[in-house]
Amino acid sequence: MNILITGANRGIGAALVSEAEARGHSVYGTTRASNDPKLLPLDVRDPKSASALAAQLKDTPIDLLVCNAGVYLEKGLPVTGLTDTQLWADTFATNVTGVYLTAMAFLPNLALSQTPKIAIISSQMGSSERAGGQAYIYRASKAAALNLGRNLAVDLKPKNIAVGIYHPGWVRTDMGSSAAAIGTEDSAPGLLDRFDHLSLKTTGCFEMWNGDPMPF
Ligand SMILES: NC(=O)c1ccc[n+]([C@@H]2O[C@H](COP(=O)([O-])OP(=O)(O)OC[C@H]3O[C@@H](n4cnc5c(N)ncnc54)[C@H](OP(=O)(O)O)[C@@H]3O)[C@@H](O)[C@H]2O)c1
Repeated sequence: MNILITGANRGIGAALVSEAEARGHSVYGTTRASNDPKLLPLDVRDPKSASALAAQLKDTPIDLLVCNAGVYLEKGLPVTGLTDTQLWADTFATNVTGVYLTAMAFLPNLALSQTPKIAIISSQMGSSERAGGQAYIYRASKAAALNLGRNLAVDLKPKNIAVGIYHPGWVRTDMGSSAAAIGTEDSAPGLLDRFDHLSLKTTGCFEMWNGDPMPF
């Protein structure tokens, strides 16, 4: 399989690249920094960046697109202090618009696959049924990413593209912190198993890394 994974220079994205390569897949990992020769350049907030990478990969089939890049910018701020509108704009630019721009840029590559799939890394914090309070900006952005994925699943089904939305677990990364429950060595293999399971029959699913269904 040819797999493209965004935000692959660290954290869950880097672990997904290693695990997918270990499983024998051809993996295109991306980074918004330009200094890693093993990774391809992509700033998910920038439509020009996405179309430049899509042009570079023109005629390359992509079987699985993993929209993993994400930010959690309000960490440590009280919920009464989220008045900096730039924080909202920057979070949504990456976590929501970035998913849309990435999916649209690589639709021609997905169309070249026999079994094309898009995996969106949202979060349990995007679940409205499991609203836990706090982190309003991040939660709203991940709820929007979930909603975007559900609607993409409807619109891309006639094109045979399956779309799944995932919670990777609370993972020990820069974002998840060292206090998190699981490591990337648990999350990445679990997620790749879930992506294997994704099909047009399960399109629109919202699942945890271990296969448990997530409430919407
Ligand atoms: N860790 C958790 O517990 C947890 C839980 C639920 C959901 N998630 C989600 O899982 C995904 C990965 O999280 P993580 O824990 O691995 O976070 P992380 O360690 O902070 O890594 C985030 C990755 O996203 C990249 N990124 C951020 N903005 C980008 C942009 N504009 N363009 C391209 N890449 C960008 C980062 O690149 P730079 O190095 O350039 O910043 C980095 O590679 C995120 O979507 C996150 O919201 C994580």
